[in-house]
Amino acid sequence: MSSERQFRLGVLGSGKGSNFVAIADACASGAVPAEVALVLSDVPDAGILTQARARNLPAQFIPPGQFRTKLDDETERLYVRALQEARVDLLVLAGFMRVLKGEFLRAFEGPIVNIHPSLLPSFPGLEAWKQALDHGVKVTGCTVHFVDAGVDSGPIIGQRPVPILDDDTPATLHERIQRAEHELYPACVAAIARGEITVQGRRVLWRKPSA
Ligand code: GAR
Repeated sequence: MSSERQFRLGVLGSGKGSNFVAIADACASGAVPAEVALVLSDVPDAGILTQARARNLPAQFIPPGQFRTKLDDETERLYVRALQEARVDLLVLAGFMRVLKGEFLRAFEGPIVNIHPSLLPSFPGLEAWKQALDHGVKVTGCTVHFVDAGVDSGPIIGQRPVPILDDDTPATLHERIQRAEHELYPACVAAIARGEITVQGRRVLWRKPSA
């Protein structure tokens, strides 16, 4: 058995957790050379917590505090402390529906990545698949990016295009985007865990062909 320390992931999510499942299963199969150290949610009955517990992975609900779209200061400290105690190397946002403020980004020392259901910089914010459909674009997709102090604005790690079909509804389009997400996100996390990417300003460079 190798004594080398595994790369440790912390995962934050508010929803059903399908991206978490894709990453956790890729860790379990060895496709992503990392382990899930901790899953945190701001929603007590979120599917992501159920999925984590079903895999015997540490999972915790931390009440979000008084705000709807962000965490209050004390709550941010609780999240950061839990992630630090779990010795997390990379924080993975997987459908976490609150903005992390500057204090969180400064207090958590490792990199933070997010998946967004559009080809950024198009359609940041909520229900990006619906925004794309309403706008009438023919191609949308998903983006994995580093998190900075803005909303869906950090350096882009990888993207996958997804065509929009004439008979798409918001639900069918989101489902197709999610299938692309489940391939893209584990590939990006694996590349980070392997130390295969570097950031030069806004550009993220891959040592091997990018996702
Ligand atoms: C994903 O489609 C993700 O792109 C989106 O939430 C969903 C979570 O699904 N995130 C955002 O919209 C962030 N702005 P999941 O819980 O099944 O992984």
